[in-house]
Amino acid sequence: MAYPVHRMRRLRAREALRRLVRETHLEPSQLILPLFVCPGQGVRREISAMPGNYQLSVDELVKECTDAHRLGLGGVILFGIPETKDEMASGAYAEDGIVQRAVRAIKRETPELVVITDVCNCEYTSHGHCGKIVDGEVDNDATLEWLAATAVSHARAGADIVAPSDMMDGRVAAIRRALDAAGFTHIPILSYAAKFASVFYGPFREAAQSAPRFGDRRSYQMDPPNAREALREIALDIEEGADIVMVKPALPYLDIIRMARERFDVPLAAYQVSGEFSMIVAAARNGWLDGERAMIETLLAIRRAGADLILTYFAREAARLLA
Ligand code: PBG
Repeated sequence: MAYPVHRMRRLRAREALRRLVRETHLEPSQLILPLFVCPGQGVRREISAMPGNYQLSVDELVKECTDAHRLGLGGVILFGIPETKDEMASGAYAEDGIVQRAVRAIKRETPELVVITDVCNCEYTSHGHCGKIVDGEVDNDATLEWLAATAVSHARAGADIVAPSDMMDGRVAAIRRALDAAGFTHIPILSYAAKFASVFYGPFREAAQSAPRFGDRRSYQMDPPNAREALREIALDIEEGADIVMVKPALPYLDIIRMARERFDVPLAAYQVSGEFSMIVAAARNGWLDGERAMIETLLAIRRAGADLILTYFAREAARLLA
C-alpha cells in the first residue's frame, strides 16, 4: 500500500513531531575533545589551520579541562608536544614527560573528567615517524617496547584510558601485557584499530609538529581503499584485548563504521580528524555554508553510521549548542 495512504511528510510537519521520531541523538557525553599540551607557562598558541584550537601549556590545559568537564563532555584526549625530540622518542615514555605532567595536573583539578592519552611516538621522534627506525624502516617489534612503556607511564600518571594510534602490529597485546604486569589491569585500551593513511591529518601535523621528515606513513597506516582489511585490523585488536575500537578518519569512512558496528559488539569510536574539522571551518569562514549546521549534520552522520563515541575538535561547540 502506498500513496495516498502513506504520506511520509505527516511526521515532518513540525519540529515537535520530527523530534518525536528522530532515530539518532547526539549527547555531550558521546564527544571527546582532543587537546594539545606543550611546555611553558601561560602558553595559548592558536593552531593556524585549526581555528579555535591551541597548543596549551599545562596550566592553560587544566582550565580547558575544567570547561570540558562543566560542559559534560565524555572526556578529553591528550597529545603532547615535548621540549625536545630524539631518535628514541624518549619524551614519550619519560615519567615527567609533557603528557604525564599534564595528566597529573588535570587529575588534581578535575579528577572525575575522563582523561584519555594518545600513545604514539611521532610527536617525540626527531624523524617524525611513529616508531623506531632500523635500516631506514619503522621497526615493528622494537617499537612495541616504547609503546608499552609509554602506556604504563600514562597509567601511572593517572590516565583513565590509553589509546595507541601508531598502527604497529601487536601493540594492543604488548600494552595489555605491560599494563597488567604493572598493576593496571583496570585501565582500558581504546585502540585506533582501523586508522587509514589519510590526507585529512594535515592540520594535526602542524598542531602536533609531527610531520614525518622523510617518506610517509603508508607502510603502517592502512591503505584507504581497503574495507575488509579494516575489519581484520579491528578483529585482531579485539582479540589482543582492545576494550574500545576506533575508525579514523570518520566522514570519509562511514562505510567502515557501519560494517564494524554490524560485526562487533565492543564500543565503537570514530575520530572526526583535523582535516574534516578544518574544511568545515574554512567553508563557514568563507560564507559558503553554515558551520554550525555542518558540524551537527556530520556528527549525526557519524553517530547514525554506528559510532558510540566521537573524537572531535567540535566537542565544546557542539556541547554548547546541545545544552
Ligand atoms: C599520531 C596521530 C595522528 C592523529 C592522531 N594521532 C597523526 C598521524 O597519524 O599522522 C591525527 C589526528 C587528526 O588529524 O586530527 N599518530
